[in-house]
Amino acid sequence: MVDRLDPIFSPNSVAVIGASRQKGKVGYAILHNLIVNEYQGTIYPVNPNAESVHSIKAYPSVLEIPGPVDLAVICVPADAAMKAAEECAKKGVKGLVVITAGFREIGGAGEERERTLRELVRTNGMTMVGPNCMGVINTHPDVQLDATFAPTPPLRGNISFMSQSGALGVAILDHARNLNIGFAKFVSLGNKADVSGNDLLMSWENDPDTHIILMYLENFGNPRNFARIARRLSKKKPLIAVKSGRTEAGGRATVSHTGALGGSDIAAEAVFAQTGVIRANSIDELFDYAMSFSKLKPPKGKRIAVVTDAGGPAIMCTDALIQQELELATLKPKTIESMRKWAPPEASLTNPVDLIASAGPEDYRRALDAVLADDNADAAIVIYVPPIVTAEVDVARAIWETAEKYDKPVLCNFMGRSEDSPGFVELVQHGIPSYLYPESAARTLAAMYRYHEYLNRREGAFPEFKVDKKAATRIVETAKQHGRKRLTEAEALELLHAYGFATAKTRFVKDAEEADQAAREIGYPLVLKAVGKDLLHKTEQKAVAIDLRDEKDLRDELAKMEKRLQKAGVSVDGYLVQEYVAGGKETILGMNRDKVFGPLLAFGLGGVYVEYLKDVAFGLAPITDEDARRMIRSIKTYPLLAGVRGEKPSDVAALEDGLLRLSQLVHDFEEIKEIDLNPVIALETGCKVVDARIVL
Ligand SMILES: Nc1ncnc2c1ncn2[C@@H]1O[C@H](COP(=O)(O)OP(=O)(O)OP(=O)(O)O)[C@@H](O)[C@H]1O
Ligand SMILES: [Mg+2]
Repeated sequence: MVDRLDPIFSPNSVAVIGASRQKGKVGYAILHNLIVNEYQGTIYPVNPNAESVHSIKAYPSVLEIPGPVDLAVICVPADAAMKAAEECAKKGVKGLVVITAGFREIGGAGEERERTLRELVRTNGMTMVGPNCMGVINTHPDVQLDATFAPTPPLRGNISFMSQSGALGVAILDHARNLNIGFAKFVSLGNKADVSGNDLLMSWENDPDTHIILMYLENFGNPRNFARIARRLSKKKPLIAVKSGRTEAGGRATVSHTGALGGSDIAAEAVFAQTGVIRANSIDELFDYAMSFSKLKPPKGKRIAVVTDAGGPAIMCTDALIQQELELATLKPKTIESMRKWAPPEASLTNPVDLIASAGPEDYRRALDAVLADDNADAAIVIYVPPIVTAEVDVARAIWETAEKYDKPVLCNFMGRSEDSPGFVELVQHGIPSYLYPESAARTLAAMYRYHEYLNRREGAFPEFKVDKKAATRIVETAKQHGRKRLTEAEALELLHAYGFATAKTRFVKDAEEADQAAREIGYPLVLKAVGKDLLHKTEQKAVAIDLRDEKDLRDELAKMEKRLQKAGVSVDGYLVQEYVAGGKETILGMNRDKVFGPLLAFGLGGVYVEYLKDVAFGLAPITDEDARRMIRSIKTYPLLAGVRGEKPSDVAALEDGLLRLSQLVHDFEEIKEIDLNPVIALETGCKVVDARIVL
């Protein structure tokens, strides 16, 4: 056996410990499923109180089974399960699937029990799925193993599916049957005491039966490993995940903008985007995606043709396509003319091709043939609203027969019909994904196109900048020695300077006298900022005065600021006199160390309103130059940086450079917890950091 998971998926013999004659018991259902699904190996029921179960000879203990046992499915209560596992170890059983609950999920004694079980498994070189799971399935015809207590077995197919929730997993298998979605393997992960999601990913990466991987996740065991494996794997096969826990309850204590904008779910989202994992936002979407990804190859472009017999749904579909950043194909005149020959005069033949309500199977056949033959279309969505006199099966056949001739994805929407209507069934059984609503088809096609883009995108490189790490270390160490959790503004700017950031010229001063001196060195116009430990957000405290033109301006502002802050009872350590950076666009570059994933970088259009605009892109460090490019271009307001209304574009390359330097900085200094560079003013040439907050 090459793979540690072989005894789980391809055992030659299975013992069911806790096999029961009593209907309704788990031990009944598991044995029943193994038998009715025609498991190809030998089954041994284990039950001390029965001579036989389901007409098969039973054994009082696994130790008394005469032949070798590859896999034991344990479904007796927790205490008995521990004893059974020990006996399995003694017997030389290679794999365990522990259905039994009462382990880590109940806390206290359960946690201890789980530790003991894991120890036992590991010291004896066994492989275990669970505990507290619903079992495993392998539909391969040589194996036909259904070791679950799920009521309906899945169809054979090319999807492998792991679920952290057993119940949800079973419900999904059940519903998938209606959609003609088949599975290669299924694993209910349970408490993941031994076999983890990452283990399964590695096993399925090279499994020829598995073409697509579906995951229902609640958390990541080892997120960094996940990211590493996923990046590699999704180049080979699509990895579709539903991760729950999107909305995060409870506030997290954080002082930075980046912290306030981030959060574990955003980190998960960033990991998915960076590693090509296709995220489904709901179970519904998971099915939608599974259906198309398992049946079709992704489109090679984003120009979509729509063929319909009704205007309304075509408009809905078009809107959804545009919203998902796909395009409506511009059909060639030749294509349109060819349809003109047979189409009714009322038909509208530019995309969307509206064949009107009288359209029958032949109209669909010819229209779909025409648009798929057109080089300007990369994929098609066919909408059919069955009129009163219907020939929906004939229409469905016309669609799949035509689609078969081309190497372009065709998705269908039979409006107002159900998943068991004859036309729908005809389509899904012939490899055409079909949806009840046009938006679902559009969204799915968009997900497929994004996957195509992922497969074809440049990997990028991790650049290494020459930086003054010594100087940076000195600054961090000084703060640590003084027991300070936050670098002063001046230190932060200095640290950034050491890492090659362009920073606004800044001097720390104690009073008006020193301010004048600094002003002469830097030159007007200037900015004045008060600093002190209470001055976290200077704008709110009116501790920033910008665009000061001369000495009088500076002295007046300083005096006013001093008075104001004194009155407010805010202690002031001194002032920053800073070069005024005129013009440009304010951006934010930041980092917040996520508890689960590690350093999460952020980029957005910044300034004092960043929390309200929430137009920020995230990436998990370390990022490649391609990641940086993508992050910056993915924000909604990117056009403002590219230049609108006759404005010159900002220096986007300088911002990319900044993000990459930030990535290197947070990699070099594990002790940096949060960084907030807000704003970094993007200019036509270069960019400048004018405000920096660094928390250790
Ligand atoms: N050197 C400068 N040149 C030009 N504008 C500046 C400069 N320094 C600050 N500003 C302007 O003043 C705003 C507030 O300044 P700064 O970011 O230093 O204060 P802040 O209140 O600490 O900000 P926040 O807490 O929101 O990060 C900036 O967003 C920018 O618009
Ligand atoms: Mg600021």
